[in-house]
Amino acid sequence: MTKDSIKKGLEGIVVTESQLSYINGIEGVLIYRGYPIEELAEKSTFEEVLYLLWHGELPSSDLLTEFTEDLSNHREIDPGMDKIIMELADQNENSMAALRTMISMLSGYDPNKKDTKNLDVVLQQGANVTAKMPTLLAAFHRARSGKEIIPPRPDLNHAANFLYMLSGEEPNETTAKTLDTALILHCDHGINASTFSARVTLSTLSDLYSAITSAIGTLSGPLHGGANQNVMKMLLDIDKSNVDPIEWVKNSLQSGNKIPGFGHRVYKIKDPRATILGGMSKSLGLSSGDMRWYDYSISIESYLSQEKGLASNVDFYSGSAYYQMGIPIDLYTPIFALSRVGGWVGHSIEQLSDNRLIRPRANYIGPSDMTYIPIDER
Ligand SMILES: CC(C)(COP(=O)(O)OP(=O)(O)OC[C@H]1O[C@@H](n2cnc3c(N)ncnc32)[C@H](O)[C@@H]1OP(=O)(O)O)[C@@H](O)C(=O)NCCC(=O)NCCS
Repeated sequence: MTKDSIKKGLEGIVVTESQLSYINGIEGVLIYRGYPIEELAEKSTFEEVLYLLWHGELPSSDLLTEFTEDLSNHREIDPGMDKIIMELADQNENSMAALRTMISMLSGYDPNKKDTKNLDVVLQQGANVTAKMPTLLAAFHRARSGKEIIPPRPDLNHAANFLYMLSGEEPNETTAKTLDTALILHCDHGINASTFSARVTLSTLSDLYSAITSAIGTLSGPLHGGANQNVMKMLLDIDKSNVDPIEWVKNSLQSGNKIPGFGHRVYKIKDPRATILGGMSKSLGLSSGDMRWYDYSISIESYLSQEKGLASNVDFYSGSAYYQMGIPIDLYTPIFALSRVGGWVGHSIEQLSDNRLIRPRANYIGPSDMTYIPIDER
């Protein structure tokens, strides 16, 4: 195999068939199981999208009620977890690392954790992780802020309940809907890096908790889910330093940096999710009367698009949207995980339905004729 034939970063390599989501990176299209993301963002809910991804079709009203109740029945965490939550908070652990550790711990409370044969059991594990993730994240955040942990409220939907557990106040309808839409938008995206991690882990017939733990670790990097918080740090730095946003970006590019929230392995034009999130960021600015974050974003976006041919991705506007909702910056990437877990679970089920160990090769370019010298002669 020649160096040129290696697809670095697996670019363009098709590793599986999937029925979950389709991306057309040339035309900027994203669909979940045949439904355009724009329509789901406008008309659906996160719970309904989870059902769609996990079961392959939209639920009837009764099925959705049953599914939503089942999910909310899984929200409470075992009191045994409190000790580790407090310890992670005391150690001032990074929020994504804390989430990864807490999710890994969940398997200790599931007697069926090793079952990968019965897909109904795996789906229940998926519901368990998805439902508990917001409870764990909010508990960690409250603990590190020296505040009392707030138990989940079964009468609120997934998004509203998370915001409630975070702040102790029931969010207004607009804020809850904004988060619900953001969760829909981030839920699945083909074989992205974290989803691939989940599938690789499950392909060894490990277990769902291990797959989700792998995926969270993968999502945390700045080239993947970590970009949304870096976008907001950039906007805050621009604001604080009172520099023109375009000058800031030019300087950053000159220093060899990549601008967070731009570029994508698959999209060659603007990510359709960025269009929707941009609208949400704008609405939040209009309703608060502070258009700063949106205005900075628009200047950066038009400069990078015209001068560098770079288009915005999902992370570009989610940062400023979450900021305007009062969410702490280091929770943006964990919130991405609260949503993408839906895709990880869906892909895990798909992987297990037709599993084969994922095991690629490397082109060995090291030496092959070394002579072993005993340690005392080296
Ligand atoms: C998303 C990303 C990792 C894709 O990586 P990739 O497919 O391996 O693409 P590359 O990093 O090879 O980029 C291709 C070219 O575009 C440039 N580019 C890509 N994203 C860029 C960015 N955000 N800022 C500046 N230049 C960028 C690269 O420098 C490279 O230019 P070159 O060919 O002259 O070297 C990359 O665009 C990136 O790092 N973006 C910023 C982080 C981010 O927003 N991540 C969230 C993704 S949803």
